[in-house]
Amino acid sequence: MNIIKVKNYKELSMQAAGIVAAQISRKKNTVLGLPTGQTPLGMYQELIKRFRKGEIDFSQVITFNLDEYYGLSPEHPQSYNYYMWQTFFNNINIKKENVFIPDGVTKDVQKECRYYESLIEKKGGIDLQFLGIGDNGHIGFNEPAIALNSKTHLVNLSQATIEANSRFFNDIEDVPRKALTMGMGTIMKAKQIILLASGMKKAPAIAKTINGKVNTEVPASLLQLHRDVTIIVDKDAARDV
Ligand code: GLP
Repeated sequence: MNIIKVKNYKELSMQAAGIVAAQISRKKNTVLGLPTGQTPLGMYQELIKRFRKGEIDFSQVITFNLDEYYGLSPEHPQSYNYYMWQTFFNNINIKKENVFIPDGVTKDVQKECRYYESLIEKKGGIDLQFLGIGDNGHIGFNEPAIALNSKTHLVNLSQATIEANSRFFNDIEDVPRKALTMGMGTIMKAKQIILLASGMKKAPAIAKTINGKVNTEVPASLLQLHRDVTIIVDKDAARDV
């Protein structure tokens, strides 16, 4: 694992955006894997800035999101689909047909999961996968457990995640109890992985991810097995490393 320690959130966002820009200039039809949450917001803002300055062209870029709440439609303001369009895609020249996000209101979960996996394959696999990390070490919505599903699947959210994510909802009761997520196997197939972590709350999970034993109770620790992972952490998140 390659660890980049930066001073603060701003620097983390600049570094992350720089990696995206360099990747797209090398390969115009790059396949990106993208996360949601608070952490990548600064990176998305910086990418929008660079796009407006004419420095990045997203017209051939393809994206796959990590996960989506089960039961939320793309129009729901707390859906990850809505988040991605509002915070990023509406502000760059990406083509709608090149954006892929699991369908949270699918009638056939099994079929949707299989379809998502096959689409990633069809597009040539993910070149560059960005990740955030849950306070409990989850990746996407792969929650700590004694065993994990490798492929895209429907997952029950843990109480810890429901509580952590309730900050984005009016009421904790409104937080969906299930989500569709890429599996750890899907994620590990990406050619390159960049994990972003900022703030003291992430410090214990980051320490276990980097220095702990590989185990499914800390899904992020599986990343130790990948050959091209970079973790960009600010001072606070790197406190225990
Ligand atoms: C959610 C998402 C994850 C994300 C995590 C951390 O549960 N499913 O993909 O990494 O939260 O979010 P934040 O960056 O807001 O701390």
